[in-house]
Amino acid sequence: MMTFKLETSKKNWQEALMFSMICLAVFASFAPVLSKEKNIEVSGSDLFKQYCSSCHVGGGNAANPTKPIAGSKMLRSIALFQKYLEDPPGHMPYYQSVASNKETVRKLFDYCRKLKKGQEG
Ligand code: HEC
Repeated sequence: MMTFKLETSKKNWQEALMFSMICLAVFASFAPVLSKEKNIEVSGSDLFKQYCSSCHVGGGNAANPTKPIAGSKMLRSIALFQKYLEDPPGHMPYYQSVASNKETVRKLFDYCRKLKKGQEG
């Protein structure tokens, strides 16, 4: 009688362990999908506010007013824009997390191309 009970509880314990391992595996396989979806929600405007607007409010250039973003030649192609961000000249800072992420660069590119010369805010 006693032995039987012990057998049962051992089996339950093994089942519980199996179950929690399956849960862990399922969670682990979903986690990257969830974090990727979070990235997709960040818009070009959000990225611009976070990384660029301290100097480039409204597409201008507070650090060097002769080189605004709006109407910049660097926006002729996304490849050119990415190259620029990978190795910016003068006092323009380099953001590795921005320049090395194609999706981030594309969103910023789309946003910057909509900026018009002389537009504020
Ligand atoms: C700390 C200030 C600062 C920040 C922040 C900044 N920039 Fe700049 N940016 C500059 C300066 C200064 C220049 C001019 C560089 C030079 O040629 O001397 C410039 C130039 C540019 C140009 C080229 C303009 C031209 O036609 O010569 C582009 C495009 C640009 N920035 C995009 C961005 C983007 C996109 C971000 C955000 C990821 C950003 N910048 C963040 C200071 C900044």
